[in-house]
Amino acid sequence: MLSTSHIKTSPDFGWLNDVSVGSLFGRRGMRAACAVVEPVSESPEQPFYHESILLDEVVQFLKPAAGKLMADGTLGGGGHTEALLKAGATVKGIDRDADARAYANERLARFGDRFEAVDGCFGDIATLAQVRGWEMLDGILLDLGVSSHQLDCGDRGFSFRLDGPLDMRMGGDGPTAAELVNDWGEAELRQIFWDLGEEKFARKIAAWVVSEREKVKFERTSQLANGIEKLLGRRGRTHPATKVFQALRMEVNDELGESSAVFCKWRLIF
Ligand SMILES: C[S@@+](CC[C@H](N)C(=O)[O-])C[C@H]1O[C@@H](n2cnc3c(N)ncnc32)[C@H](O)[C@@H]1O
Repeated sequence: MLSTSHIKTSPDFGWLNDVSVGSLFGRRGMRAACAVVEPVSESPEQPFYHESILLDEVVQFLKPAAGKLMADGTLGGGGHTEALLKAGATVKGIDRDADARAYANERLARFGDRFEAVDGCFGDIATLAQVRGWEMLDGILLDLGVSSHQLDCGDRGFSFRLDGPLDMRMGGDGPTAAELVNDWGEAELRQIFWDLGEEKFARKIAAWVVSEREKVKFERTSQLANGIEKLLGRRGRTHPATKVFQALRMEVNDELGESSAVFCKWRLIF
């Protein structure tokens, strides 16, 4: 759904006008925020693909137009940004993923200086705006979660269906999922599987991870995914490692911290 909260900035955010913020949440929070497609291949040459959701609703809500300055905090493949640009707005597209910025730069080059791809995190949007001199943003869009491209590139390490290094970092910095799985204590792992993955077998999986890593360190997505499948068995179509992978991705990328950095700074007016 598209949340239709109207956000008014606190006085210390003079750079941001009363602003419409569109946040896309799936039925189960951030995890379903973007359309997920089945992987096409395991090749690192995988072309960028992401199907933007709720395009018409985003445009209706944010009302982009010539002379308006907007920020897309989750640029991804640039689909939403393209719709805002087509309506005449100027858009700063923030993404911490270099692949996303490179692809969007190519896709949106025709809009000239009305589009700029910005390396950064949306949680730092206030600083980005100050440093870069964006005066009075008229709208911010956040399409939270992972892109189809990230899921479909095995070498990014997000997928339980494709083998790759157990990485999951959207940007290039910070600890990888493998570091969490190999170094964190059992209680910490259990907590994130439970809190971020809503995994009801959190306790069992955390205990298994800790005993398994004594034998061999976790390095590949397939090790973790196949091990969890063996541990829990398979019922239905959903892979039994789905929730653990979600929890690790959210932790590695501090997804809750990023969201609260944006939402908690502003006074919400509904
Ligand atoms: C669901 S996709 C966005 C898709 C995009 N709306 C489109 O139409 O193609 C989410 C994107 O946000 C990026 N992302 C996630 N968290 C971020 C953050 N805190 N700061 C900046 N980019 C982030 C991811 O790297 C990914 O490219």
